[in-house]
Amino acid sequence: MGRNKGNFDAVKENALEVYRCPITGERLHLDAAEKHGDEVVRGVLLARDQRYVVEGDMPVFLRTEQLTGTAHFARNYYASIAETYDDYVHVTFDLYNESEREVRLGLIELLNLNRRSKVLEISAGTGKDSELILDNLDADGELWLLDLSSDMLAHAKEKIARYPARTEAAVGDACHLPYADNYFDALYCFAGIGHFTDQRMALKEMARVVHPGGKVVFAEKNVPPWLRDTEYGKILINNNPMFADENPLALLPVEARNAGIRWILGNVHYVVDYTVGEGEPTGNFDLVLPGHRGGSFNTRYFGKLEGVSAEAKALYEKAARKREMSLYQWLDSTVREKALKDLSED
Ligand SMILES: C[S@@+](CC[C@H](N)C(=O)[O-])C[C@H]1O[C@@H](n2cnc3c(N)ncnc32)[C@H](O)[C@@H]1O
Repeated sequence: MGRNKGNFDAVKENALEVYRCPITGERLHLDAAEKHGDEVVRGVLLARDQRYVVEGDMPVFLRTEQLTGTAHFARNYYASIAETYDDYVHVTFDLYNESEREVRLGLIELLNLNRRSKVLEISAGTGKDSELILDNLDADGELWLLDLSSDMLAHAKEKIARYPARTEAAVGDACHLPYADNYFDALYCFAGIGHFTDQRMALKEMARVVHPGGKVVFAEKNVPPWLRDTEYGKILINNNPMFADENPLALLPVEARNAGIRWILGNVHYVVDYTVGEGEPTGNFDLVLPGHRGGSFNTRYFGKLEGVSAEAKALYEKAARKREMSLYQWLDSTVREKALKDLSED
């Protein structure tokens, strides 16, 4: 079993350097039932309390309890249309007189790839974007595919077999990614998010597996607020209620830096892209602010007192003016002075 066009590649043992248990984050150990060289054709990947089968030569990082709600629907739906998906997907672009290739290329450009990039594509489906991503990579590059549907991925694997870059494909749920922290340089997801059962979780997972400085790009159908009441918007929502879903800005993780959103493809598909940062952003919040209030953002936030009577407040404002001090300077020095005096008398 090798990289035969039209066949599944087997799971290579070195992929276990990157795959993790999607529930606990633990490393996985291989219990191989059938191996050819370093490739596992059938077997089981084990974590402490979890096991995942290698089936159809791909690891399946799914457990039945994850397949509820929209995930259950999506897996069955895409299994049923996997054979014909490529014949019909052009409709999504024809509806707005746009070129499928140009739209897809425009999204991939946002990934800022180089020839050695390590890319994760979530909801890769039949691999229409996978090929365009692989055009950017040489043998040192890597493309990892994940999809809920092994039937869709089967078609992707046929398409990607001829490219020099390393490719790995797995069945799994975007809300629980089976990869190590910080492994990827870029992450891409086109037209998958609308199906995810927990979008906030999925967006958090995306930021976890891309290292700081890497890019995340995702897009999904969505009638923007200003088109909701138009006939154009209503016709689209009538045809597919997913067009009425909220855009995901409120769900972005705190690691998102220089985040942007715009609407493309008929003005009814959002694209979000951002650079991954570390934790919350930081600011120079001790900067002393000029003017009558004075202090800094930090003194105003961390130094809040209980409050005083309106009369005391008016007095302190008057006193600060008289002493030509900022409100902050007067208050901070007065409270400090009085507190130190009281404390020394104890
Ligand atoms: C509309 S297709 C898009 C496929 C491909 N990205 C494209 O542009 O042609 C949506 C894909 O999302 C996958 N999907 C749905 N829910 C998913 C989930 N929770 N995790 C991963 N993939 C999911 C489906 O199996 C399907 O292949």
